[in-house]
Amino acid sequence: MNKAWWKESVVYQIYPRSFKDSNGDGIGDLRGIIEKLDYLQELGIDVVWLSPVYKSPNDDNGYDISNYQDIMDEFGTLADWEALVAGMHKRGLKLVMDLVVNHTSDEHSWFQQSRQAKDNPYRDFYIWRPGKDGQEPNNWVSFFSGSAWQYDETTDEYFLHVFTKRQPDLNWENPKVRQAVYDMMHWWLQKGVDGFRMDVINLISKVPGLPDAPITGEGKYQFGGQFFANGPRLMEFLREMKDEVLSHYDIITVGETPLVTTQHGLEMTHEETGALNMVFQFEHMDLDRERDSVTNLLVAKPWHLTALKEIMGRWQKDLETGGWNSLYLDNHDQPRGLSRFGDDGRYRVESAKMLATFVHMQQGTPYIYQGDEIGMTNVAFPSIEDYRDVWLLNGYQQAVEQGVDPEKVLAMIQPTSRDNARTPMQWDATAHAGFTSGEPWIKVNPNYVHINTQQALADPDSIFYYYQKLIRLRKQHSVIVYGTYDLILPDDEQIYAFTRTLGNEQLVVILNFKAETAVFRLPDHITYTTQPELLISNYEVDPAQSIEQFDLRPFEARVYHLTN
Ligand code: GLC
Ligand code: CA
Repeated sequence: MNKAWWKESVVYQIYPRSFKDSNGDGIGDLRGIIEKLDYLQELGIDVVWLSPVYKSPNDDNGYDISNYQDIMDEFGTLADWEALVAGMHKRGLKLVMDLVVNHTSDEHSWFQQSRQAKDNPYRDFYIWRPGKDGQEPNNWVSFFSGSAWQYDETTDEYFLHVFTKRQPDLNWENPKVRQAVYDMMHWWLQKGVDGFRMDVINLISKVPGLPDAPITGEGKYQFGGQFFANGPRLMEFLREMKDEVLSHYDIITVGETPLVTTQHGLEMTHEETGALNMVFQFEHMDLDRERDSVTNLLVAKPWHLTALKEIMGRWQKDLETGGWNSLYLDNHDQPRGLSRFGDDGRYRVESAKMLATFVHMQQGTPYIYQGDEIGMTNVAFPSIEDYRDVWLLNGYQQAVEQGVDPEKVLAMIQPTSRDNARTPMQWDATAHAGFTSGEPWIKVNPNYVHINTQQALADPDSIFYYYQKLIRLRKQHSVIVYGTYDLILPDDEQIYAFTRTLGNEQLVVILNFKAETAVFRLPDHITYTTQPELLISNYEVDPAQSIEQFDLRPFEARVYHLTN
C-alpha cells in the first residue's frame, strides 16, 4: 500500500457558526477559531476542515454560496481568513475548505444573470426546463421537502434544486461551469488551502432527460436519487477536475457522497484510476433511522451491532485494493454519534472513549467533529422555536400541515435533527458555555455546566486526553494506519472485535458496545511470540491479566499490540 500524509492524518471538523464567537454577536467566526488554535494543537490533530465560510445568505448555513471568493460577513473578512491560515500553518496544521459546487445560492451573480433571460450568457449555468401540463418538469422531491423544481416568472420556466429552492443546482454539462469551478479552486489553492471536502459531489451529473422518479412513497413528489446520484458523467467530471486542478497540488480531498456503494467508493478513491483520496459514505448513518411512511420525516429505529459490523467491514475490505476510507460517526448533518451508538447518560465517558477507539483503529482517515473530544451529546429542545435547521423546519411544517399533532412531530425530529450537532461548542461553565458573550444563534446544550473543555483539560482521565493519546499512537505505530483489517466474532451482538495486521505486527481491538459486561475469548488463530502490550484502554487493566480470556466491563475498549 502506498504511503501518504493524508492517510496518516487526523482531521478535525469545525462548524464555524457554532465554534467560538469573538465579538459577541452570538455567531461563531474566524477570529474565534484563531483564539482556539492552541487548543486544537494540544489535541494533536493534523488537519482542520472548515464547513463553508464563503459569502452566503445562510438559507442553509453557508451551504448556499453567493460568492465563492469572499468570506461571509458574520464570519469576518478575507484578511481574517489569511490570519487563520497563517496561524494554522505556523502550528503545522493544514486547512481543508468545504467546496459546495453542486449548487450555489440563488443570490450568486451567476444565478441572478441566469434567471434574467433565456438568452443570457449564464442561462445554461443552471438547469432550466419548461413546465409539463402546467406542472413541474418532473416529479422529483427535494431533499428538504416539496418539489425539486421552482417556477420563475421572469422567463416562465422552472429551475432544478435538489436542496432548498434557494440552492439552484449548477449545470455541470456546461463546460463553462466546470471551468469556473476549477478557476475558483486554483484561486484558493494558491492562497494556501491544503484540500477540499466536496459537498454532495456525486450529485453533479444528472441523467439526461431528467426522467420521472418511480413512485415509491406517498405524496406528489418522489425520490429521484437514481437519476441524480452517481450519474453517467460523474467519473468523467471528477477525472477532469483531477487533471485540471487536484493533480497539481499536494492536497487532501474527501467527497461527501450520499447513496454510494463500495463499488462507487472504490472507483472514486482508487489511487490510479480514481480522483479523490476518500469519500464519506452514509450506510452506517442510515442504520438507526427510517422514513416515517406518513410524514416522510427521518425517525429513529433500533439498530444491531452485527449490521454495523457488516457495513463497516464491507467498506474496509472492498476498498483494500487501492482505495481509502474516511472514518466518522458524526458531523454537522448528524445527531451526536455518542448519543446514537454509545450511552450519553451513565456511561458517557466510557462509551465516548470506546467509540473513539472504534473510529481511530479502523483503516482510513479519522474525522473528529467539534465537541466529540469532550463527549458532547444530543439535545432535545422543548419547543420548535428553539430549532434552526431549514430541513427540520420544512419537514415540521409539512407534517403539521398534514394534520399530525405538533407535539408528536417534535418528538419525532428531536433524536434525528441536524441541530443536535449544531449547538455551540462547550468551552467552560460560564454563561452560554463560554461560546459567546451575547445571545447565541442557537441555544447551548444545558449540560455544558459539566461537559466543557475547561473541565476536560483539567482531568487527566478525560475524553480529551484519550483522543490525544489515540492520535499520538497513530504517529507511533504504522500498523494503525496501514494494517489490514479483519473482523473477529462476526456474530456477536455485544463485542465488536477486529485485528489490524502489518508484517509481523498485529493489533487486536476489542470493544464492548453495551452497558453489560461480556466475556472475551481470543480466537485460536491469533498468535503471538512476545508478551502482548496494551496500547490503550478506557479502564484500568491489571497488567498480569491474560489476553486469552477476560471480562469486558460496560463499554470497555482495549487495543493490544502483538508481534509474531
Ligand atoms: C451537504 C451538507 C449539508 C447541506 C447539503 C446541501 O449534505 O453537508 O449541510 O445541507 O449538502 O448543501
Ligand atoms: Ca461573531
